[in-house]
Amino acid sequence: MARETQSESDSVPKIKDVISIRDFSRDQIEKLLNLADKMGQVFHSGSDVLRGKILATLFMEPSTRTRLSFTTAMYKLGGQVIGFDSPEMSSVAKGENLSDTLRAVENYCDVIVLRHHLEGAARLAADYTRVPIINAGSGAEEHPTQALLDLYTIKKELGRIDGLKIALLGDLKYGRTVHSLSYALALFDTSLVFVSPETLRMRREVTLDLKNMGAKVEEFKDLQKVISDIDVLYVTRIQRERFPDPTEYEKLKGSYQVNLEILKNAKPTLIIMHPLPRIDEIVPEVDETPHAKYFKQPYYGVLVRMAILKSLLT
Ligand code: NCD
Repeated sequence: MARETQSESDSVPKIKDVISIRDFSRDQIEKLLNLADKMGQVFHSGSDVLRGKILATLFMEPSTRTRLSFTTAMYKLGGQVIGFDSPEMSSVAKGENLSDTLRAVENYCDVIVLRHHLEGAARLAADYTRVPIINAGSGAEEHPTQALLDLYTIKKELGRIDGLKIALLGDLKYGRTVHSLSYALALFDTSLVFVSPETLRMRREVTLDLKNMGAKVEEFKDLQKVISDIDVLYVTRIQRERFPDPTEYEKLKGSYQVNLEILKNAKPTLIIMHPLPRIDEIVPEVDETPHAKYFKQPYYGVLVRMAILKSLLT
């Protein structure tokens, strides 16, 4: 379970940090998604529920959606935001270590959103600081708030999560979003289908954990084999920056692609998601089909992050 604190009502889940999706129960996730629903109204009207509160965004790796949606979420709730969007803009560039940075920053804010290239960085940060830590990506390990917004997207677009067959396509080895999302989906009654080139298969330890959690997991190399059976297709880019050897990336580049031809065999209700950024794994023509939901995800992401901030700070 996520570390718990007192909260104002049962409708606001009690959480202390957001480090790993594995710290969450299904009940906590469902409460967060219900709260995200209520945030739809607040998104339009605004609120001052977090007036006087300050969010610090510490991003040691590039980001567009995660950092900006947390910033938007905080402003919509009446709070303020400080931070930096690259290590070059902070004392990290002078050689400062993570714990010293955090010990200083926690004096300036009520919550910290941290993105770091090292696995385990967010957990370490939570051990060092008094204020809540939100993991906005810890190396190739996890991206729990993305998983929450992915679940919310599925629920909003298909009306449910239970009973669905969900394919995760692409770089399942280095992609942190697919690790967090698989663990989250395993808490529901879903069938998981992993589709990837052989060298980018889901990490063994993750597949094993999922099976131990009772999840139904199948693995394929070719999307064509499963396209007609699935309700959700979650696409990811090859995580070029995490490859130890750049020639390995060159070999895999362009090895899978979602295009109109392959979608001829899809269910009409299939939804296609992507955490973004997209490189070449979904052709632009797919954007115009009713399957494409990846440009709705950033909006759902703001609502989910508003729900997270409200839960942590009230
Ligand atoms: C993802 C990430 O940073 O892991 N992006 C995001 O947060 N929406 C996915 C990616 O970079 O491929």
